[in-house]
Amino acid sequence: MQKRELLYEGKAKRLYLTDNKDLVISEFKDDLTAFNGEKKSSEVGKGALNNKISTELFKLLEENGIQTHFVEMLDDNHMLHKKVDVILIEVIVRNIATGSLTRNLGIEDGTLLPFTLVEFDYKNDDLGDPKLNDQHALILGLVEYQDELDKLRRMARQVNDILRPYFFEKGLNLVDFKLEFGKDSSGNIILVDEISPDNCRFWDVESGEKMDKDRFRQGLGGLAVAYEQVLNRILSK
Ligand code: C5P
Repeated sequence: MQKRELLYEGKAKRLYLTDNKDLVISEFKDDLTAFNGEKKSSEVGKGALNNKISTELFKLLEENGIQTHFVEMLDDNHMLHKKVDVILIEVIVRNIATGSLTRNLGIEDGTLLPFTLVEFDYKNDDLGDPKLNDQHALILGLVEYQDELDKLRRMARQVNDILRPYFFEKGLNLVDFKLEFGKDSSGNIILVDEISPDNCRFWDVESGEKMDKDRFRQGLGGLAVAYEQVLNRILSK
């Protein structure tokens, strides 16, 4: 499958049309951004690592009954996937308090939450991705029906129920992550975007070491080494 016109360039990926109107290609970039694009850098190999990690995780989720946009990994930096209408809601799933939850509500960093928290953020860079409740999402027309919001929450919890024990067995705590969803050509809600250390937080179970984009956000260094370790643990049986 060949890349055709550039459809869209995001912070971490470029999206290309293909000869099939239902399929598009994502090119995973080495660029890194944080704090709504205020902090920028790039790390050689990051795009390929995220493509490989996302490929493995989409396959795992598909095997466990989650519908995703994934079709196949084409090469190191390219993934073929279904074309969808992206729902402009970032679905955030949290098992352990850190990041904006700690900043916004004062919950101590590292607190194990009494139950898994699912939140919605409005995917809108100009507004700084503000928090949404269900009524906001319906008023903005981000989805049509309450049922669709319930489905996003349900799917996000299912993804967590699959990924959390999977990573724990590999010595990583899945602290929190962000998912995106879209509607395919038949109107089904499916999981889209990527699942990688750019949008998940992983803490080593033994050492507590951060193995995700917080290494960049917090200036800790060693980002590609950490992402490679995440991939190696996924590939290890
Ligand atoms: O920053 P915050 O604590 O809200 O992030 C929660 C989770 O969502 C983290 O895993 C982070 O990587 C992810 N996230 C993301 N993209 C955003 C906001 C958060 O991938 N725009």
